[in-house]
Amino acid sequence: MSLHESAAHAATAGEAARRRTFAIISHPDAGKTTLTEKFLLYGGALAKEAGAVKARGGRRGATSDWMELEQQRGISITSAVLQFPYGRSPGAEATHVVNLLDTPGHRDFSEDTYRVLAAADAAVMVLDGAKGIEPQTLKLFDVCRQRELPLVTFINKWDRPGREPLELIDEVESLLGVRPTPLTWPVGVAGDFRGVIDRRDGTYTRFSRTSHGATMAPEEILDPDRALSEEGVPWEAATEEVALLDEIGADLDLKSFLAAESTPVLFGSALTNFGVRKLLDAVVDLVPPPAPRRDLGGHARAIDAPFSGFVFKVQANMDRAHRDRIAFVRVCSGRFERGMVVTHGRTGKPFNTKYAHQVFGQERETVDEAYAGDVVGRVNANEVRVGDTLYLDDPVEYPTIPSFAPEHFRVARVLDTSKFKQFRKGIAQLDEEGVVQVLRQPEVGDQAPTLAAVGPMQFDVAIWRLENEFGAPVELNPTSWTLARRTDTAGAGKLRGMRGVQVLERADGTMLALFESQYWVQRLEQDQPDLVLEPLVAEGRPG
Ligand code: G4P
Repeated sequence: MSLHESAAHAATAGEAARRRTFAIISHPDAGKTTLTEKFLLYGGALAKEAGAVKARGGRRGATSDWMELEQQRGISITSAVLQFPYGRSPGAEATHVVNLLDTPGHRDFSEDTYRVLAAADAAVMVLDGAKGIEPQTLKLFDVCRQRELPLVTFINKWDRPGREPLELIDEVESLLGVRPTPLTWPVGVAGDFRGVIDRRDGTYTRFSRTSHGATMAPEEILDPDRALSEEGVPWEAATEEVALLDEIGADLDLKSFLAAESTPVLFGSALTNFGVRKLLDAVVDLVPPPAPRRDLGGHARAIDAPFSGFVFKVQANMDRAHRDRIAFVRVCSGRFERGMVVTHGRTGKPFNTKYAHQVFGQERETVDEAYAGDVVGRVNANEVRVGDTLYLDDPVEYPTIPSFAPEHFRVARVLDTSKFKQFRKGIAQLDEEGVVQVLRQPEVGDQAPTLAAVGPMQFDVAIWRLENEFGAPVELNPTSWTLARRTDTAGAGKLRGMRGVQVLERADGTMLALFESQYWVQRLEQDQPDLVLEPLVAEGRPG
C-alpha cells in the first residue's frame, strides 16, 4: 500500500471513529420529539432556538388524518437521520458527528421502527418520570435486546411531579432485565428539579430555567459544601441515595453496557433542557462508534475497506410536489463519494450515486461524502429494496433486515374495478417498500390480496397511498386472523383442507398459514407434530 493510500485508509477509519449513530425509543408522549429538538439545540443545528422540529399543536388527531398531521410535523415522514457535529464542552470544536436516526413518531407500531433500529449502533430510551416503563417502551426494548443494542436510559420530565427515582430504576431492572447504572442522580424530587449529581466524579451541576426552554439552560457547578448550604434537604436526600447506589455497586460498566446487559441512566427534563448536555455527552462518550459489520458468511468487513452499505428504509415522499422514492443507505465501510458508481448486490447492476442526498427534516441537501455510521439518501431509487446491499470493489452481502411477525390482516379490494391496473401496481410497490406485507392465494391471483402488518397504522398508510399516489381507492375488510406461521409445500397441502386456517403466499415465495388464535396452532402442533409451523419473529439474521 502506498503512503497516500494508507493515509486515506487512516482518514476513513478516523472519520468513522467520530460517528455516533443511534435512535431514540420511547412510548408516545414520553418526550422523544422534544428531546430530539433539544439535541439539535445543543448540537448547534438549530440556530440557538428550539421549536423548529415540531409544528406545535394539533398533532394528536384521529388516525384517519395521520398523514396530514405527520406531514405538518414533517420530521417523521421525510427524515431518516439528523446529523450534526458535536463537541463535549460548550463552544469547543466538534470532536464527534452525531447521527440521530428518526424512528417514526406515531403512536402505532410499524415495521419501519424495526428497520431503523437495524441501522443504529445504540438506542436512547426515554421514559416519562411519572410513568416509567410503558407498553411501547417494552416492545421497542425487545427489539433492541434482539439486536443486542447498547441502551442509554433518560428519565425525562423531572420538572414535574413524578415517581421516586429509586423506584424507577428498580422498574427498569425488573421489567427489562437490564441492570441500571445511574450516571446522574437528581437533586430535588420530581417537580422540584434543581440539578444532578454526576456519580462518576461527584460534581453537582445546578441548572436554571430559561424562557420556554428555548435556549440552553445555564449550568453552575457547586462543591458539596455549597450544595449543602444552598440546597439543604433535597441535597441531603440525593446524597443519601447516591451513597446507597455506591453501596450496591450500581456503577457504570462499559463491558456490560456494550453487551446490552446494563444501562447507564440519566435524569433530566427535555422541556427545560436540564440534563440534556449530560445526556449528549454520555452518548458521545459511551455509544460505540460503527463496528465492522458482518456479512452473510459471518465475515466482518473492515471499516476502512471499500464503500459498502445496506438499505434500511425506502420512503416514498408524501410531498406531492416531488413524488419520488428515497432509499436510505446506512454506510458500513469505506468512504462514500457522491457520483461513485457502486454495485447493487441483489441484481449485480451498477448503481449511480449522483443523486445522493442528506435529508434533514424536510430539507434535502446533496451529500458529497459519507463514512461508516452515516446515512445517505438516494432519490429515484426505484430498483432497490429494504435490505439490499450496495458496495464498491470487493463484493459483500449483508444479512437482510428481520421482518417481524404480522398480527393484523386485512383483505384489500379496489373500489372502482376500472382502476384495477393502478391497484395492482400500487400493491406491488407497497409490498416492495415494505409498507405492508402482501399475501396472495396463488390460484385466485391479485384480485383481493391480504395485507399483513405489525401495527394497524400501516394500513392507513397503504389506503392513503393507494388512493393518492396510485389513484386506486380501496376498501380494507377485516379478517379474523391474528397470527401467521411459516409452512412448507407439504404443510400447505395439508393445511389447505383444514378449518380455521388459510394458507397464503408472499412475493418471495414464503408460504404463511394464518390462524385465528394461538389455541389452533397449539392443537395442530400436538396433533400433527410433523407439520412445519415455524414462528415468524425476527426472520432475518441480526446484522
Ligand atoms: P413524543 O415525541 O415522545 O410523543 O413526545 P413529545 O416530545 O411530543 O412530548 C409530549 C408532551 O410532553 C408535550 O406536551 C411536551 O411538551 C411534553 N414534554 C416533553 N418533555 C417534557 C419535559 O421534560 N417536561 C415536561 N413537563 N413536559 C415535557 P404537550 O402539551 O402534549 O404538547 P406541546 O403543546 O407542548 O407540544
